[in-house]
Formats: sequence, C-alpha cells, structure tokens
Amino acid sequence: MRSSVPVPLSVATSTLIVVGAIMMMTTNAAAQTPMTGAEGARLYQARCGTCHSIAANKIGPAHKGVFGRQSAMAPGYNYSPALRAANINWNAATLDQWLQGPQKMVKGSRMFLAVPNPTERAAIIAFLQSDAAK
Ligand code: HEC
Repeated sequence: MRSSVPVPLSVATSTLIVVGAIMMMTTNAAAQTPMTGAEGARLYQARCGTCHSIAANKIGPAHKGVFGRQSAMAPGYNYSPALRAANINWNAATLDQWLQGPQKMVKGSRMFLAVPNPTERAAIIAFLQSDAAK
C-alpha cells in the first residue's frame, strides 16, 4: 500500500473544499439583500429539518412557541441536563448566539450545528418568530 500519497492528497482536497465553501458563503453574505420570509422557511427546512419540526419532537425538541419562551420547555422532550439548567430566554439575540455555536453558548448541550452566515441566521430566527412557528 502506498498510503503516503493518497492520504495527504485527500487532506489537501478536503481543506480546499472547506475553504471554497467558506468563500462561497462569505461572497453570498456580502451580495445578499435581506432574505424574504419564504427564504427563512426554506432554510429552516434545509438546515434544521433533519432534527427539528415546529409541531413535533424529533432528534431535537419541537419549535412551536419557542421564540419568546424559556429554554428547555418543549413538552415531552428529554433535554440535556446542561440545557435544562441554562435558563435562557429565546429571543433574537440569544437565538443568534445559539446558532453561532450551541456548545459554546451552553457547555454540554446536545445540538451539533452552527449557521455561520449571519444573513441566514437572521432569516431562520425571523421564521421562528413568525406566525408559522407560534
Ligand atoms: C443534528 C441535529 C440538530 C440540528 C440539525 C439542529 N438542531 Fe437544534 N437542537 C438539537 C438538539 C438535540 C437539541 C436539544 C439540545 C439539548 O438538550 O442540549 C436542540 C435544541 C435547539 C433549541 C433549544 C430549544 C428549546 O426548547 O430550548 C433551539 C432554539 C434549536 N435547537 C434551534 C435549531 C435551529 C434553528 C436549527 C437549524 C438552523 C437547529 N436547531 C438544527 C438538534 C439539532
């Protein structure tokens, strides 16, 4: 096995892909005008929908009524001890911080996802605040 060649190559390739993706996101953010409500719903589906829905607990808790409420209050969802102890009020500022790094905000929390693009975070948060999520 000549493993010395393929391994560094694949590392270099994935680094390039990551750098490329970050550049695309950055370019996107700079070029964008504020997103519409429909865009927020679409982003929510795409980024959060694997683990969340508005109406039902899945891997993550249901988001019905989450905007304006205390953390760890979705009925019937088994939260981490960390999030149960956190006592956060979910508003635009706290959700923005959460979406930049849940584990940075609440050490020991169990959500593994960040949304690095601030325009996308704002659109998703606006969706959570809208009637569709009440
Ligand atoms: C890979 C699965 C996963 C994805 C993707 C995900 N989440 Fe989560 N989320 C979780 C889990 C699990 C929890 C519960 C964390 C805990 O108990 O520590 C959570 C908790 C939350 C909470 C706290 C809810 C409450 O009742 O206190 C919010 C808000 C939230 N997620 C928003 C989002 C948003 C918005 C997205 C999309 C940008 C998203 N999540 C994507 C798994 C995920």
